[in-house]
This record gives sequence, C-alpha cells and structure tokens, in this order.
Amino acid sequence: MAPATRALPLACLMLLLLRRAPGAGAQAGQGLELQQPQEEVSVTAGETLNLTCTTSGDGPAGPVKWLKGWGSGNETIYEQKGSFPRVTRVVGESNTDFSIRIRDMQPEDAGTYYCVRFCKALGGVDEVFRSGKGTEVSVHAKPTPPVVSGPGRRAGPGQSVSVTCTAGGFFPKDIGVKWLMDEAPISAQQPQVTPGRTKSSYNMSSTVTMTLQEDDVRSRLVCEVQHPTLTAPLRGTYQLSKALRVPPRVRVVADPPSPVEANKTVNFTCHVKGFYPGDVVVTWLENGTEVKVENISRLVQTPRGLFELRSLVEVKATEEKNGSVFACRVVHDGQDPISETAALRIAAPAREGLSDWSQTDNGVNLLSSPSLWLGILLEKGLLSGLLVFLFKRGRHEEGNAGAAALSHSVSAPGSSAHGGGSRGSAAASFVVCT
Ligand SMILES: *[C@@H]1O[C@H](CO)[C@@H](O)[C@H](O)[C@H]1NC(C)=O
Ligand SMILES: *[C@@H]1O[C@H](CO)[C@@H](O)[C@H](O)[C@H]1NC(C)=O
Ligand SMILES: *[C@@H]1O[C@H](CO)[C@@H](O)[C@H](O)[C@H]1NC(C)=O
Ligand SMILES: *[C@@H]1O[C@H](CO)[C@@H](O)[C@H](O)[C@H]1NC(C)=O
Ligand SMILES: *[C@@H]1O[C@H](CO)[C@@H](O)[C@H](O)[C@H]1NC(C)=O
Repeated sequence: MAPATRALPLACLMLLLLRRAPGAGAQAGQGLELQQPQEEVSVTAGETLNLTCTTSGDGPAGPVKWLKGWGSGNETIYEQKGSFPRVTRVVGESNTDFSIRIRDMQPEDAGTYYCVRFCKALGGVDEVFRSGKGTEVSVHAKPTPPVVSGPGRRAGPGQSVSVTCTAGGFFPKDIGVKWLMDEAPISAQQPQVTPGRTKSSYNMSSTVTMTLQEDDVRSRLVCEVQHPTLTAPLRGTYQLSKALRVPPRVRVVADPPSPVEANKTVNFTCHVKGFYPGDVVVTWLENGTEVKVENISRLVQTPRGLFELRSLVEVKATEEKNGSVFACRVVHDGQDPISETAALRIAAPAREGLSDWSQTDNGVNLLSSPSLWLGILLEKGLLSGLLVFLFKRGRHEEGNAGAAALSHSVSAPGSSAHGGGSRGSAAASFVVCT
C-alpha cells in the first residue's frame, strides 16, 4: 500500500476515531448511520435479488458500494461509476437509499453482500467508512437434467454392467435419486454428492450395477432425481440395448441333405439367429476360400428385439466337389468369427451304391418300368375290390364287424392267429383271404 493512502483527511479520520468510541458518533451529531436490514435472503436461480441499504445522518463525502465478500477476494458488485449490467438501483439517484436489484441470480452469486460507505482518503483512494452487517445470500438452483451413461463397451448376457446417472448445479445439497427398470424400482447405492466447481452448488452421481439378460434389448432404465426446487422429479433414461451384445446362434442346413446325386443343385443355408446389435457380416468359404454370395435375406428383428438373418449359397454338386466343406463365417459386432460348416457328399453312382431289389442284372431299374407300375396298380385295385366285397359281407353276417380288423387282415395275410382277435366272422375272413 502506498503511504499516501494511509493519510486520511482529518474529518474522515476524526469520524473513524469517534466511531470506535461507543455512542461518540451520536454525541457528535454528525454520525452517518448505515442500515443493511436483511440478514439472510434466498433466491431461486434466474430470479432477481433485492438488497436493501439506506443511510441517515451526515458524514464525509464518499461513495457507497456493494461488495461481495470481505477482505481479500472481495468483489465489487456495484458502484456508481462503472458498468454493472445485471445491477440496477431501486431508487435511481437517491443519496440515502442505496438498495439494488441484481437480476438473473446464479449459484455462483451466493455469498455475503456488504453495503459499504467509503470516504475519500488522500490521493483520491477510497477507504471504508461505514459498512452494513452483511446479507447472506443463497441461491437455490435446480439440478441439471440427469444424464445416464452406460459402460464404454458392450457386455453379453450374464455379465454385469454399471450405469451411472449424473446431475449438477443444484443447491441446497439434499437430493434424492431413484432408479426404475421398466418402471419398477430397483436398488442402487446412495448417490455421491460433491461440491461443484464454484462450491455454491453441488453435483450428484449415482450408479446401479446389474446383470444383463438376453431380453434386455427392450429394457429401459430410468434415473429419477428429486430436489426441493423441483415440483416434479427430473428423469434421465438409458436403453440397456446400448450396453448389450447377444452373439448369434449359427446353423448351416443343406437342402437336399448329403449325400446328393451328382450334378444336382444343393442349397446351403446359414441361419444366423438371436443376435444384437444387428451389425453382422456373413461370408461363405468353400474349402477355406471365400465364395461369392448373392442371396442374403433382409435383417429381421423379432418381437424380443433380437435380430436374425439367412444367407444362401447354391452349389452345383459336381463329382469334383465330393467332400467339399462349406463354412458359414459370421462376424458379429467386430467380435471373433463364429463358423459353422457342412460337407457336400456326392452319392456314388447308382450301380455301386443301391441295393439289389431295385436293380436287374442288365442295369435297368425295375422301378422305372411302366409295366411294373401297371402291375402294381392292378394288384392294388383288385385287392381293394375284394376288401369292399368282404367288408359288405362281413356287415351282413355280423352286423358290426370292424373295418379296421378287416383291413388289417387283408394287408397282413399271414398274421391270422392274432390279427382277428376273438371274432368268429374275422376268422372266417382270414380263411377267404388266404
Ligand atoms: C425484488 O423486487 C422486484 C421488483 O420490485 C420484485 O418483482 C421481486 O419479486 C423482488 N424479489 C424478491 C426476491 O423479493
Ligand atoms: C477488497 O479487496 C481489495 C483488494 O483485493 C483490498 O484492497 C480491499 O481492502 C478489500 N476491501 C475490503 C472491504 O475488504
Ligand atoms: C455331370 O455333368 C458332367 C458335365 O456336364 C457330366 O460329364 C457327368 O456325366 C454328369 N454326371 C452325372 C452323374 O450325371
Ligand atoms: C435353392 O434356392 C433357390 C433360390 O432361393 C430356389 O429357387 C430353389 O428352389 C432352392 N432349391 C432347393 C433344392 O431348395
Ligand atoms: C464321395 O466320397 C465318399 C466318401 O469319401 C465316397 O463314399 C463316395 O463314393 C464318393 N462319391 C463319388 C461320386 O465319388
């Protein structure tokens, strides 16, 4: 401090001395009184703060200022000269009413406000002459809308993940946090409340840990924040699908199944089912070499939220391809590939493989002979005619002979001993049949 500031004008000095002697100011008749009646005021963030300060009596010339805080770190909130855009005087040019309004109060504006009357010291430096007792201002602030965040990477069913809800900028400190999973309350640890950057508001963090399930694709977590400044709780949501990875089940089906006749077309279909998210790449390998695929089905989402997909390759089953291995390789969500394989087997030519009954010595397949088929048809026709005849006759004789018993007896002629049961007419039919 420069020495000049030490030397107060005589009047100012006298008054300061008088002030220290109780009652001396009043006695002198020119004691300037300063009233700052509000001890505590609380406003809600965004509102206007009204601070009251009046003076009475005479004193040395000097300005009145509003300071926030005392001692080092005090801050000039208002003085006549200078620009204070948020502050207005309640009574514009008054020499006795120094009340002010501060609009748009924010949590960082919390603190103790002093109305201070200065007097001019030598060199034009202002010295504190009178000051009010201070008004303690608190600013109630709503928490910011809760933000809910999940793990940085996805996890599979059965694994546990932590989901965190944060909100900040609130005052006072008390805050309540509730978690809901699909609207049903779930338990969580106590929220952690820490002072904010300006120490005039607080931040909150609350975490839930849960085990994921396949069905959680559609599950929703809600973090509900309650605070005295709120009329209704604030909600933050989190879709568990963001944290979930369900790997696909992969199955390869050959149609027709092996072994197949040479030169037939075989469809290998890769069924990729029950996965999440839908990010999947399906490739086919024939004996380890990638093959081109034209036919990939659209990605379908099931009601449970999981995806499925089919991929098909058509293969001409030439003899050279006997024993070829077709692998369906699925890369899901950047994970290690899942492979399923099917081998193509070509049936040996009919000459070597098929059994004797369908073959003649000269290699002609009996089943392909029209006369054989005609014979079979004729035989069947005769047989059914006989059946109908027997059936009608049986009904005549017995009245209620069962058709089942008859058909059985006809189709299995040798089994008369147990086929007919105890019925006399059935036994008679066996005789006719054989
Ligand atoms: C401050 O004064 C203004 C204007 O008179 C008034 O609208 C406002 O409600 C007052 N604020 C408080 C916190 O008393
Ligand atoms: C306010 O702070 C300044 C410097 O930061 C200091 O010189 C002054 O004495 C303080 N005033 C009060 C009233 O504490
Ligand atoms: C399959 O096709 C090839 C070439 O067209 C032919 O040489 C071969 O005889 C055919 N094999 C059969 C069993 O039809
Ligand atoms: C193979 O797939 C194609 C194309 O989808 C289809 O037209 C054909 O009928 C399928 N063949 C068999 C044997 O399933
Ligand atoms: C294909 O391979 C299987 C087993 O290796 C064999 O039994 C079959 O005869 C082969 N088929 C042909 C047409 O060579």
